[in-house]
Amino acid sequence: MRGEGGPPSGGLRGRRAGARRDRIAGRPGIARRPLRPRLRRELPPMNHFQRRDGALHAEAIPLDRLAHAYGTPLYVYSAATLRRHWKVLDRSLSGLRHLVCYATKANANLAILDLLARMGAGFDIVSGGELYRVRKAGGDPRRVVYSGVGKTDEEIAFALSLGVKCLNVESGPELARVSVVARRLGVRAPVALRVNPDVDPRTHPYIATGLKKSKFGVSVEDARRLYQLAAGDPALDVRGVACHIGSQITTVVPFLDAIARVRRLAADLGRAGIPIRHLDIGGGLGIQYDDENPPHPDEYGAAVKRAMKGWRGEVILEPGRVLVGNAGILLTRVLYVKTSGRKRFVVVDAGMNDLIRPSLYEAHHHIEPVGAEPRPEGTVDVVGPVCESSDFLAQGRKMPVPEAGDLLCVRSAGAYGFAMSSNYNTRPRAAEVLVEGDVARLVRRRETWPDLVRGERARPPGRRFPARRRIG
Ligand code: LLP
Repeated sequence: MRGEGGPPSGGLRGRRAGARRDRIAGRPGIARRPLRPRLRRELPPMNHFQRRDGALHAEAIPLDRLAHAYGTPLYVYSAATLRRHWKVLDRSLSGLRHLVCYATKANANLAILDLLARMGAGFDIVSGGELYRVRKAGGDPRRVVYSGVGKTDEEIAFALSLGVKCLNVESGPELARVSVVARRLGVRAPVALRVNPDVDPRTHPYIATGLKKSKFGVSVEDARRLYQLAAGDPALDVRGVACHIGSQITTVVPFLDAIARVRRLAADLGRAGIPIRHLDIGGGLGIQYDDENPPHPDEYGAAVKRAMKGWRGEVILEPGRVLVGNAGILLTRVLYVKTSGRKRFVVVDAGMNDLIRPSLYEAHHHIEPVGAEPRPEGTVDVVGPVCESSDFLAQGRKMPVPEAGDLLCVRSAGAYGFAMSSNYNTRPRAAEVLVEGDVARLVRRRETWPDLVRGERARPPGRRFPARRRIG
C-alpha cells in the first residue's frame, strides 16, 4: 500500500484492480457555487460530499461518474474529510501526552488504515484478523492496543509476538491465559484491565458497553484484585487502566464520569505500589446523523484535557466513528418505485447486507438524490432487495421521490457500513472507492459470484466428496 504513489491515469480497464487510480474529474473550470441555504443546514459539518451545480460530488468528482465507472451499490470515501477529522481531533488534544488508536472495526479497509497510519495513528483492534490488516497496511504494532472479551490463545500469541503496546484484558480467566501464553513465548505481556466504570452513556442499548450488566470489562472492585495478581506475575507487565463505555455518545458528561472513575482507580493502584503508565479512555464520541448535536471534537478534547489535569502518564483514545463516519457515503441506484396500498416503496440496489445499521439499530441515515433533476416531495420507505421485512434504509422518510434509475446518496456510512456488511441472500459485497481531489482509487473491488462460493465444496457427480475426513 505504501508505495502506491505516482501520477493518476485516465483509463479504467486493463490494470490490476488493487492498483487502480482513476482521474474522474468534474467539469473543469466551473467555480464552486455557494450551497443552497436549505442544503447547507442539512449537511453534516466537515465533509467533502457537497453539491456543485446541483449535483453531489465526492471532493472534485461527481458521484454519478463514480457510479458509472464502478457500479452500485458503492461505498465512497473522501480522503480530505478523513484527514480533516483526524487533524481536528488530534489538535483538540494538543498539550496532552496522548496516542489516538483508531478503532479498526469501524472501517478496516487497508487504504483507510494506511491513510491513518501515515497521519501517525495507532490502532485499537479486537481480533487477530484486525491485527493482520493493520500490519498489512503499514501500521506499527507498538502503537496497537488489543481489546475484546474473547481473545483466543492463538490471537494472544500473535499479538505478543508482534510486540503490541498493550492487551486490554477483560476478565480474570483471560488474564490467566495471557500469562500462560506469555510464559510459553518467553515474553512479558503488557497489560491493562478494561474496567467497567458503570456509567450510562445514554445511547442505543446495543452499543452501550460500560454498564454493570454489560459483558465487557471487569468491575472496579474486581479490577483491584486482578491488578494485585498481575503485579505479582513475572509474565505480566502492568501498563495501564482501560475503559470504553459505548458508542455514538452525544454529550461529554458520561466520558467525564468514566475518566474520574478510572483516574481514582489508577491513583489507588499507584499508592498500592502498582504504577499506572497510561489511561485508555476508549472511543465513543458521536457524530451527527440526523438532529443529534454531539460535542465538537474541540469541546470533547477540552473536556478530556480538563479531566486529565495533573495526570502525568499517557492518555490513549480509541475513536472510530468520529473519524470515518462522515468521511464515507453509500451510493445506491433506484431499481423500482412501487406503491402498495397507501405506502410508497423506493426499491434500491443496496440492502441490509450492505448497510445494516437502520435494520439493527433503527439508525437514521440521511438520504438524498445525487442528481439535480427536480423531483416532487413525498413520504417513502427506502428498501433493499433482501428478503426480510427489516431490510430498509429509511422508513416513512420525507424526501424528493426518486424515479427508477436515479442515484441516491446515503450519508454518514463511513463507519460500521461496509465493515458490517455480509453476503446474506448470496449478494456480493459492494466495491469501495477512495477519492482524493479529482482522483478515485478502487480500494476494494466488487465481489463476484465465484468469490462467494470460493472455499465451498459440492459433491462432484459420481465422485468422492473431496474434503472428506473421518472424525472420531
Ligand atoms: N473501543 C472499543 C473497545 C470499542 O468496542 C469500540 C466500539 C470503539 C473503541 C470505537 O467506538 P466509536 O468511537 O466508533 O464509537 N456497530 C455499531 C457500533 C458498535 C461499536 C462497538 N465498539 C454502530 O453501527 O453504531
